[in-house]
Amino acid sequence: MFQLEETNLKPDPFDQFDLLYKYAQNEGQESPEAMALATSTKDGSPSTRFVLLNGVSDGCFIFFTNYDSKKGDDLKENPKAALAIYWPKVNLQIRAEGNVALLSADQSNSYFSLRNRESQISAWASQQSKIVPNRSYLEQKWKEFDSKFEQSVPRPPNWGGFMLEAKVIEFWRSREHRLHDRIRYTLQNKGHWCIQRLSP
Ligand SMILES: Cc1cc2nc3c(=O)[nH]c(=O)nc-3n(C[C@H](O)[C@H](O)[C@H](O)COP(=O)(O)O)c2cc1C
Repeated sequence: MFQLEETNLKPDPFDQFDLLYKYAQNEGQESPEAMALATSTKDGSPSTRFVLLNGVSDGCFIFFTNYDSKKGDDLKENPKAALAIYWPKVNLQIRAEGNVALLSADQSNSYFSLRNRESQISAWASQQSKIVPNRSYLEQKWKEFDSKFEQSVPRPPNWGGFMLEAKVIEFWRSREHRLHDRIRYTLQNKGHWCIQRLSP
């Protein structure tokens, strides 16, 4: 049974994340890529929603969304976010906090091109987080864009990736008597992480 013990922790939290992600997958955790993403407005009003973790690269958690959505507007005003992932199969929670920046247009284009045509059309049809009169309005919009793009579908300019550059990452695992493990990695300077155990 895997444990969060000081003696077997990876020095880099992304290596630790990778290891635990594979462990959760191997144990049959469904949708391990689902993560709650918290943003807030400039004046500090928070909101949270699930997004899919697309990948982890260069110290960043990457996700895709509509830049003009509620979360997109929040991140324009206040480019800081927090995420939380819970894998009940393996009793693990992972949290991260940091600044958020746009992924490059090239990287967003590459990922968009991998999505199936139906999802690409939906990205055009959905003005995410805006009020619409009814379901048929959305379906009509979808058909309009389906007819408009005869062959390949370009990426909508307001759809793409964000990267959360983590400064703090915490791994939590439930233990007996609710005396749980909490291990926090805090970025000191580039590539150097301070590892501390927190009281549950
Ligand atoms: C499991 C799950 C995964 C989701 N993944 C995404 C995603 O990757 N990107 C996205 O924009 N919305 C995703 N959504 C929808 C969001 O939770 C949310 O409804 C949408 O992004 C609008 O949020 P906002 O109004 O706060 O911007 C997902 C929802 C669930 C339940």
